[in-house]
Amino acid sequence: MEEKIRNIRKSFNNEIEKVLDNISLEEIRIKYFGKKSEVSDIQSNLKTLSDDEKKSIGALLNELKLEIGNRLNELKSKFDEELLNSKLNEDKIDVSLPGTSISDGSIHPISKVIDEVESLFVSMGYDVVDGPEVEEDRFNFEYLNIPKGHPTRDAQDSFFINEEWLLRTQTSPVQARVMQSKEEKGPIKIICPGKVYRKDNDDATHSHQFTQIEGLVIGENISMSDLKGTLEVFAKSMFGKTREIRFRPSYFPFTEPSIEVDVSCFNCDKKGCPICKNTGWIEILGAGMVHPNVLNMSGYDSNKYNGFAFGMGAERIAMLKYGIPDVRMFYTNDIRFVKQFNRIEGEFK
Ligand code: PHE
Repeated sequence: MEEKIRNIRKSFNNEIEKVLDNISLEEIRIKYFGKKSEVSDIQSNLKTLSDDEKKSIGALLNELKLEIGNRLNELKSKFDEELLNSKLNEDKIDVSLPGTSISDGSIHPISKVIDEVESLFVSMGYDVVDGPEVEEDRFNFEYLNIPKGHPTRDAQDSFFINEEWLLRTQTSPVQARVMQSKEEKGPIKIICPGKVYRKDNDDATHSHQFTQIEGLVIGENISMSDLKGTLEVFAKSMFGKTREIRFRPSYFPFTEPSIEVDVSCFNCDKKGCPICKNTGWIEILGAGMVHPNVLNMSGYDSNKYNGFAFGMGAERIAMLKYGIPDVRMFYTNDIRFVKQFNRIEGEFK
């Protein structure tokens, strides 16, 4: 055994001289210290020896292990240091080079419009609510008085997932959701901003995904003039104190009567200009008195309760407000575009 230990030392000393890097060092470590090494062989055979031999061979073996261990550690730190030094040499930093500029972000104009509309309506006592973008047919259509086969379904070319599920084409399903979620049917005042989806071909004025802001008020004895007053406040706040609004008859299955709402042109003040296409008026949203069927289907007694609803496109409002010519600009994530809106705060006030 003594002989064996001497030989191990000899061959280790021989081999370690040839080691030049951490990889071959690891090979040597495994060879001399691994589970199948001669050292561990001797170690496990110690128990077969007499007590005296156990002591002397044990001591010799420990000495050898210490020696090999120290040498391996020594070389490991030497190689690590060499590696670090050569890396530091390679990665020279040229402190005279210009730095990479990290530009700060900016609030997106759509978010600005949503924020502005939200804070206006919250100041009038409305709650802000959310609804799912992946919606059920019954909320997107049926509870809104649009049964299967109804012609207005074609006007809102939908991304159906299967028979019953689709990407919502409007934020109006939130009307039905909020009414149905009320355990005690009572007054409601909400607005709901969110993304909607339609199978449109993208161009300067169409996008397959855009943003709507829905409003719903339910109470007793709500009238068209409440709707008009509310939207007047909205138009003046978004487009300037001197704005007027007008109603034009329209059709939505879930409101009766239905209207489209125009705001007097903020650019020419009704004189006629390219923005209002020489009409003096700009269409900004759709609205109406909630259809009795919609109230009844969502558990409200239409003999007792009524209300109004409105829905607007946030992109359209932002395009008008900030003079943005192409809806696609909202979605290209160009920081130069987004940053411009840092400077214009309340320009119509
Ligand atoms: N949901 C309608 C649309 O997308 C807008 C609308 C909302 C009309 C609420 C009336 C009432 O065109």
